[in-house]
Amino acid sequence: MRYLVTGHTGFKGSWLTLLLQQRGHKVSGLALDPEPGSLFELAGLDSMLNDDARIDIRDGEATRAAVRDIAPDIVIHMAAQPLVRASYADPRWTMETNVMGTLSVLEAIAATPSVRAAVMVTTDKVYRNVGQADGYVESDALGGHDPYSASKAMADILVSSWVDSFGGCPTGIARAGNVIGGGDVSADRLFPDLFRGFASGQSVAIRYPEAVRPWQHVLDCLNGYLLLADALLAGAVTGPWNFGPDPASFRTVAETADLAAALWGAPATWESAGGDHPHEAGLLTLDASRAREELGWHDRLDFDEAIHWTVDWAKRVEAGDSARDVTIAQIEAFEGKGTA
Ligand SMILES: NC(=O)c1ccc[n+]([C@@H]2O[C@H](COP(=O)([O-])OP(=O)(O)OC[C@H]3O[C@@H](n4cnc5c(N)ncnc54)[C@H](O)[C@@H]3O)[C@@H](O)[C@H]2O)c1
Repeated sequence: MRYLVTGHTGFKGSWLTLLLQQRGHKVSGLALDPEPGSLFELAGLDSMLNDDARIDIRDGEATRAAVRDIAPDIVIHMAAQPLVRASYADPRWTMETNVMGTLSVLEAIAATPSVRAAVMVTTDKVYRNVGQADGYVESDALGGHDPYSASKAMADILVSSWVDSFGGCPTGIARAGNVIGGGDVSADRLFPDLFRGFASGQSVAIRYPEAVRPWQHVLDCLNGYLLLADALLAGAVTGPWNFGPDPASFRTVAETADLAAALWGAPATWESAGGDHPHEAGLLTLDASRAREELGWHDRLDFDEAIHWTVDWAKRVEAGDSARDVTIAQIEAFEGKGTA
């Protein structure tokens, strides 16, 4: 099968590229250039792709031309400005990329007859956060306090509206939360911040240590996206899908950072940052019953394993192992854990 991954130079995109290749698929990508030190660069992924289109999805014309040239069977759309704090700093860039960029990808798919299914990635942050204890279900109201969340809620509504208005190939919306794994270099995410501090011997300042987050390994999330793509291809499903971890993986940032520091080894340490910070959503969890029941999806890695794998990846690459080899070894171990 020929997959097009938008956002392939990013964190999830790099893992997805390697996961798809390990499963025997051909992969093309469309995104901006990778960040310095990214998994994409470390693993030399440019040499493994069928096409490596460096296109800004805000440019509808260029996106349409590139997707038509690539002529994929399946599109996984992940290209986005994905950071809450960056969205406060540059709301226009965030909206243009996440909303109009998604429109560019929808138009490009519609203009490319080879495409047989599309998975459009949004986030758990699309839900209007009313502080409910139970996980949000797919039919709950959408909202978005910060610019990032609002942009993703808009993208989510845009995809539904597009499908309702114009039909087209089977199209699903995938909503997942906080994912972790080796090779994330984003600013303002917990594990990249921890590893940068641990490696340089500095204590890491953490903004919301008491915040509870649902932790999930990136491979479990991506496996969900691919099960959804298979079901879309089979013509069996449509609509939005939550991919969130079990409640046993809802842990505080402090507990997670403690475990990561212990696994890294002395003198790894962290401290509370204190001070005022822009609003970030409190606990927001997903009810993934629909994906479990209708797609047969479940997390293969529990909380401890997800943290262990993430720290192990960083320690091995820090010690000089090949990022590509370490990532492929973890994918093989993941594939050995099941088929759903
Ligand atoms: N990482 C998480 O915890 C998480 C949680 C929920 C949802 N998501 C969603 O998953 C997707 C991937 O996230 P990630 O963590 O890999 O992000 P990332 O920042 O590592 O990668 C983003 C990718 O999008 C591309 N991109 C950004 N702006 C673009 C533009 N204007 N034109 C073309 N490409 C552009 C980048 O080049 C990069 O390849 C995003 O849609 C994000 O909103 C991520």
